[in-house]
Amino acid sequence: MTSVLGHPYFADEGFFLYRADCLPAIRELAAAGLNVDLTVTSPPYNIGKPYESPRAVDEYVSWSTDWIGAVHSVTGQHGAFWLNVGYLAVPGRGKAVPIPYLLWGRSDFFLVQEVVWNYGAGITSRRSFAPRNEKWLFHVRNENAYTFNLDEVRDPNVKYPNQKKHGKFRCNPLGKNPSDVWQFPKVTTGENRSSKERTAHPAQFPLGIVERIVRVSSNPGEVVLDPFSGSASAGIAAVAAGRVYLGFEIRDDYCRMSAERFRRFLALRDEATRQGGLVYSEADDSVSSG
Ligand SMILES: C[S@@+](CC[C@H](N)C(=O)[O-])C[C@H]1O[C@@H](n2cnc3c(N)ncnc32)[C@H](O)[C@@H]1O
Repeated sequence: MTSVLGHPYFADEGFFLYRADCLPAIRELAAAGLNVDLTVTSPPYNIGKPYESPRAVDEYVSWSTDWIGAVHSVTGQHGAFWLNVGYLAVPGRGKAVPIPYLLWGRSDFFLVQEVVWNYGAGITSRRSFAPRNEKWLFHVRNENAYTFNLDEVRDPNVKYPNQKKHGKFRCNPLGKNPSDVWQFPKVTTGENRSSKERTAHPAQFPLGIVERIVRVSSNPGEVVLDPFSGSASAGIAAVAAGRVYLGFEIRDDYCRMSAERFRRFLALRDEATRQGGLVYSEADDSVSSG
């Protein structure tokens, strides 16, 4: 990787972060014939966040088509692409148009399904319902052969675990399929309501979601890419699960923050290991028995 992309902004223990525009960087990987096993990402939504310069909708769609095409070209045969997107305004057509509508049919990935991420807090509205979901689009390279480790992510919260049919347990002892509606609180900010995992990044996704995706759609030792790394949530989840992380982030302040966050993660993890058999949990900034 470093022989193709050069010296990273920060690297440690299987975590490689480059300060780079992701499109040319991924094209360099493709030109060198390098593959990744899983891409999990949330790009700018073109809604005026501090890290994006708004573009015309057509231009946004064309840029999205380009970078998703580049991701496809580096995705290995059993690989997956999980894309988190929300809504944007299309002048004269819609106030909150789901970005997946605009991107449909523009990539060579096979769409397995759309997962709804439902959360409890968010902005409100007077002339429409308060938005409380975003989508995760689960794509694969090969519809007939892709990594899907369901047993790694089963939900142990089963209402009637001992229910039997013809003498056999109805439910898998490891738990139930978590379904295509996922409830994870948003990473919040503000006095008395700030999430413990909150960094200074304005659009951080919850570690719980990326952990689930990393475990179900990749295997230990494989490479996880986030082209829009932000605060490197995907990187923490990937390395915590024994994968290798490759992140691209265009802004220096977010790269610096990510390096600090990753160092903090390593320190907490090592402390947990020293205490023996304990598991790191950034969400509570604590360790627990695993
Ligand atoms: C929605 S945020 C990602 C947040 C991330 N998932 C997290 O948990 O922190 C998108 C990120 O992409 C970065 N970005 C925007 N354009 C980029 C580009 N062309 N290449 C690489 N990063 C870019 C922004 O600076 C921003 O940090």
